[in-house]
Amino acid sequence: MTSDQSFRLGVLGSGRGSNFVALADAITAGSIPAQIATVLSDVAAAGILEQARQRQLPAQFIAPGKFRTKLDEEAERAYVLALQAARVDLIVLAGFMRVLKGDFLRAFEGRIVNIHPSLLPSFPGLEAWKQALDQGVKVTGCTVHFVDAGVDAGAIIDQQTVAVLDDDTAATLHARIHAAEHELYPKCVAAIARGEILVQGRRVIRKVG
Ligand code: GRF
Repeated sequence: MTSDQSFRLGVLGSGRGSNFVALADAITAGSIPAQIATVLSDVAAAGILEQARQRQLPAQFIAPGKFRTKLDEEAERAYVLALQAARVDLIVLAGFMRVLKGDFLRAFEGRIVNIHPSLLPSFPGLEAWKQALDQGVKVTGCTVHFVDAGVDAGAIIDQQTVAVLDDDTAATLHARIHAAEHELYPKCVAAIARGEILVQGRRVIRKVG
């Protein structure tokens, strides 16, 4: 762990949690001046919760309620309360498969980031690596962006490219994008924790010096 752990992260995920692991490892290695204050998931058996518990980090399943792609009102309130109780400075979405809406966004305006497996604004939505392959692009990658009311639509913080190879399948391309995500996300979260990120409308600028 680093000496400066005052910047508190709340990580939300629904899946295996490899981006969470990359972030947690980067914190342990001292590359991100932050601590993980809580990990929340809408999937009781999600790998991300198991990964967090293995690291003795607070991890909690919060039922998402009756909808398939978003949180219902009660669930949304429960997520907001849990994140406020953990006094998080930044919410890091790491494969959280539900769209966040009004009250949640208002509670943490400008303090939610996401990683998406394409070079946005190309290929928002599901299976972005497959969309890239089907479209025949030669370069794709991943994007870290702020979260707003649109789907994969907020201001872009940074991107990393991944070449599409002639013999790529959806699985091989997805694996290389995932590897790129594990480099990009910790760098972006570190820059935010260090206060190096300035948002000017759609443009996100890295402060220097
Ligand atoms: C990543 O591909 C990310 O881009 C997307 O969800 C996936 C999460 O993977 N938003 P993991 O759970 O971090 O392994």
